[in-house]
Amino acid sequence: MSSVVATTAVRGRFLDIQNTVAQAREIHDQVRYVEDGLLIAEHGKIRWFGDWQSGQAHLPDGVQVKHYPGQLIVPGFIDTHIHFPQTEMIGAYGEQLLEWLNTYTFPTEMQFADPAYAQKIAQFFVQELLKNGTTTALVFCTVHPQSVDALFEAAEQHQMRLIAGKVLMDRNAPEGLCDSADSAYSDSRQLIEKWHGKGRNLYAITPRFAPTSTPEQLARAGQLKAEYPDVYVHTHLSENKNEIAWVKELFPEQQGYLDVYRHYGLTGAKSVFAHCVHLEEDEWDCMHETGSAIAFCPTSNLFLGSGLFPLKKTWEKQVKVGFGTDIGAGTSFSQLQTIQEAYKVQQLQGDKLSAFEALYHATLGGAKALDLDGKLGNFNPGKEADFAVLDLQPTALQQLRQSRAKGLEDALFALMMMGDDRNIHSTYVYGQLAYAKPQAGAQ
Ligand code: GUN
Ligand code: ZN
Repeated sequence: MSSVVATTAVRGRFLDIQNTVAQAREIHDQVRYVEDGLLIAEHGKIRWFGDWQSGQAHLPDGVQVKHYPGQLIVPGFIDTHIHFPQTEMIGAYGEQLLEWLNTYTFPTEMQFADPAYAQKIAQFFVQELLKNGTTTALVFCTVHPQSVDALFEAAEQHQMRLIAGKVLMDRNAPEGLCDSADSAYSDSRQLIEKWHGKGRNLYAITPRFAPTSTPEQLARAGQLKAEYPDVYVHTHLSENKNEIAWVKELFPEQQGYLDVYRHYGLTGAKSVFAHCVHLEEDEWDCMHETGSAIAFCPTSNLFLGSGLFPLKKTWEKQVKVGFGTDIGAGTSFSQLQTIQEAYKVQQLQGDKLSAFEALYHATLGGAKALDLDGKLGNFNPGKEADFAVLDLQPTALQQLRQSRAKGLEDALFALMMMGDDRNIHSTYVYGQLAYAKPQAGAQ
């Protein structure tokens, strides 16, 4: 491939967060807004980023510049918790977590024994991520190894950085969805060898949650993590009060829910725990001490009636956090809609979530939660060129509101409160255009 073909140059208004921070109040100073900017990507990575005037000298001869004069370009959104097999069951009526799993989720996941079905839904899922400006996600598959193959194969078509894994589940679930301690170990091991570090794919050891794994299975998961310290661990924690009581019954010898995972060697810098709505004080301390991360999933927590996640506490306790959509308990693939609900969840607790803090969690902070902030999350040269081009006014109402915006922060906040997939103009993955919204009249 000639360097001209491998080079992408994009001009427009750019907004990102330059550095990770320890406190929310520090984010403001890290906001970088380039009114007329240029980003040059080569072989998937950002080679140059800055203002258009000085950037033109860095453009290789013959490179076409794609200009987005009216849009806002941000780093690709990062979804730190989502289930691809649950795409088709969004909006299932009436239940809280444990009943919802038995009534809706397990029957849906059974279908993924069929590789052709898994492939069909994986394709749809990846397309839906791109349509929402999401360029990286940490993804639950099902218990079936073929569901993992289907997802990584779909991601590879766009060279998209996904982290995913086969679910481990050997009790308290229908027989057709159960593996065993041994098969969970050997199947996961094979999948790690096949996929982890292949292209941009990364693997996560994925016990569903403590109630659906025997102590033997969690021990095997811990053994795998010890053998492959570079892979991720992805599970659920303290989402629902009945779930927490059940874990205490099933694991009476452990001090609490998180202690179960800690005991089996499943906490650490590459461990991501979805929800954490009802953590005890010592569990917050354990999250901090082990460097584990939280996926905050507001649309899911509201939809299943799980509770209100205290985002402010992540700053107090110095625990990494990103936003998750948690499809299909979550109700939208959109990080913008996720931010809307995150804001309201903080309001209900008397706390504020600013637009810049929300942008941080959806991009660089999410990357940090996934231990990928060296590679993703902003426009620093050397990082991977994943970004979303946002339309600020795809509807008449948004047009009116944006025309009254009082500066950048207000415009961004209004975008976040009103936005959804209609606001995603284009999505670039690894320097290449991966999605462009059909323009009006072109459908
Ligand atoms: N806890 C265990 N499994 C699940 C799941 O599929 N979704 C959610 N939201 N919580 C879970
Ligand atoms: Zn989940």
